[in-house]
Amino acid sequence: MMQKLICNISNSSDHYEIVIGNGLLVDHASYLKTLASRFAIITDDKVAILYGEKLKNSLVASELVVHLFYFTHGEENKTRATKELLENQMFEAGLGRDTCVIALGGGVVTDVAGYLAATFCRGVPLVIIPTTLLGMVDASIGGKTSVNVPYGKNLLGCIYQPKKVFIDLSTLQTLPKKELANGVVEMIKHGLIADLPLFELLEKHSGDLFGSDSTALINSIFESCRIKKEIVEEDAKDLGKRQLLNFGHTVGHALEHLTKHRLSHGEAVAIGLLVESHLSLELGGIDQKSFDRIKDILVQYGLPLQLPTLFSVETILEAMKLDKKSVGGRPRFVIISTIGSPLVSESCYCIHVEDSLLKHALHWMSDDLCYC
Ligand SMILES: NC(=O)c1ccc[n+]([C@@H]2O[C@H](COP(=O)([O-])OP(=O)(O)OC[C@H]3O[C@@H](n4cnc5c(N)ncnc54)[C@H](O)[C@@H]3O)[C@@H](O)[C@H]2O)c1
Repeated sequence: MMQKLICNISNSSDHYEIVIGNGLLVDHASYLKTLASRFAIITDDKVAILYGEKLKNSLVASELVVHLFYFTHGEENKTRATKELLENQMFEAGLGRDTCVIALGGGVVTDVAGYLAATFCRGVPLVIIPTTLLGMVDASIGGKTSVNVPYGKNLLGCIYQPKKVFIDLSTLQTLPKKELANGVVEMIKHGLIADLPLFELLEKHSGDLFGSDSTALINSIFESCRIKKEIVEEDAKDLGKRQLLNFGHTVGHALEHLTKHRLSHGEAVAIGLLVESHLSLELGGIDQKSFDRIKDILVQYGLPLQLPTLFSVETILEAMKLDKKSVGGRPRFVIISTIGSPLVSESCYCIHVEDSLLKHALHWMSDDLCYC
């Protein structure tokens, strides 16, 4: 079963396809030949062993000129230094403007390789093959590329759209559970901000989403990609509606930062989704029953919902000031009025909430989710 989505790029007639299926990894040669004469697969060391060599060999067998470049996996390597190292290796291999970059890997790889493709010889074609669930439903769609700098995460980069995204579900078979959970959290978020049926599908299949029948998985990935692409189509430059995608991330990013990444991104955002749902509950948006459903689904997917350390409310508030939606040092939050529909007023997708409400939600988090 293969499914396709078209992502239209706003203010242009340009678009790209997102193809979702099983076993696509070895089936790209005829399309790739239309893009360039030489190819640079960029990946990390883990994915190079699992899929990089296999992809290279299959393309070489189809008479393509292919080079494989990889860097050490991990967020800490999403840097200018890694980008420079890869660029140097590509120049040393004699690659130039006639090269297509194939980004093969998780969000770290696709962010670095996307940024590299945008600037290499002033921009070369980019094809993305995400191999993590988060990469499939989130990082590969929307054209955001970046590296981290000592001053903060994702602070250097640009928006650069791929020519095509190939989602090969079979690559998920080797993905560790914790990485699957990181992706599921973003899919749950997509359901919460935009689509009750997706939320219900994920609820229904919490016990068997990654089982032998891939129908629910393929459908939920398709729906999740559709939601992300529809939002970015409306707001390619991240000026409005795209803020919805930050639901759960204001608190989540603060917790990731404060725990020095002892909480993974998915674990931190799961707690963030719950705290920001609590705010929605206090503001008269969702009811208690919906709140309980949100907590239940996160538990069912194995998210621990536990803070490893107790932080004072003031410390968390301080960390949230760094959030990109903050205005005048005050964080703003996406609020949902029901599961699947955000509160939007006068084209505003996030709002300031009363300090007392915010403190109440954070106290709730400390009391209910801290077992330290
Ligand atoms: N550009 C965007 O719009 C966007 C959106 C969301 C997140 N991101 C970025 O994505 C990054 C996180 O991405 P991620 O969660 O995919 O992490 P990641 O890229 O670090 O991958 C996680 C781990 O899984 C390994 N891996 C990848 N595919 C595998 C597979 N199929 N089997 C086994 N192991 C595999 C990787 O080697 C790595 O160790 C962050 O840097 C974040 O900023 C970008």
